[in-house]
Amino acid sequence: MGSRPSPRDDIERILVTEQQLEAALDRLAESLTREVGGADPILIGVLGGVFVFLADLVRRLDFALEVDFIDAESYGEDTEAGELKIMKDVDCEIRGRHVVIVDDILDTGQTLSALVRMLQERGPASLRTCVLLDKPARRVIEFEADYVGVRIPNVFVVGYGLDFAQRYRNLPFVGVLRPELYDKRRT
Ligand code: IMP
Ligand code: MG
Repeated sequence: MGSRPSPRDDIERILVTEQQLEAALDRLAESLTREVGGADPILIGVLGGVFVFLADLVRRLDFALEVDFIDAESYGEDTEAGELKIMKDVDCEIRGRHVVIVDDILDTGQTLSALVRMLQERGPASLRTCVLLDKPARRVIEFEADYVGVRIPNVFVVGYGLDFAQRYRNLPFVGVLRPELYDKRRT
C-alpha cells in the first residue's frame, strides 16, 4: 500500500481543533436543549456540508426530535436576495411545528436568509437557525443565526463536512487550505 495521499497534506493550518469542535457542540446542544428541548422540533439540515455537524449534534440531544434535509442554493451574488434554487425540499409538514434550520457555515447570509423566508411562509410555530461556523466579515445581507458554534475570520475553510470541490469533508477538524489550492476561487 505504501504512502497514500492524505487530505491533511493540503492543509496549511488547523483553525478549529477537534477539542474546540467538541466544546462548541456541547454548548450548542445545551442551548438547544434549553430552548427547544420540550417542543418536539424538526431539525432541518442544509445539504451537504452539514452532515458531519448534524450527526454529532443530534447525538448530544436527548429529547424527541425529527431530522429532515433540504438541498438549496442561493443564486449568484448579483441577483436579488431571496432567489433560491431548491434541489431537494423537506419531506416533513412544517405548519405548526418548531423548526431549527441547521447549516455548516454562515457566510454571505444569502442561503440561510432565503431559506428562512421560504420556510416561514409555511407557517411554523417557530423558526430558528443554527450554524457551526460563522464568518461575519463575509456578510452581504443583514442576517445573524440564533445559535453559532464558532466565529471564524474571513478565510476559506474545509473539513468537518465542509468541502472544496467535494474534497476534504472527511477531515475531523476545520482547516485552512494551502493558499495555492484555493486562491483562484475565493479571496
Ligand atoms: P452563504 O451564507 O449563502 O454565502 O452560503 C453558505 C454556504 O456556502 C455554506 O453552506 C457552504 O456550503 C458554502 N461555504 C461558505 N463558506 C465556505 C467555506 O469557507 N468553506 C466551504 N464552504 C463554504
Ligand atoms: Mg451549504
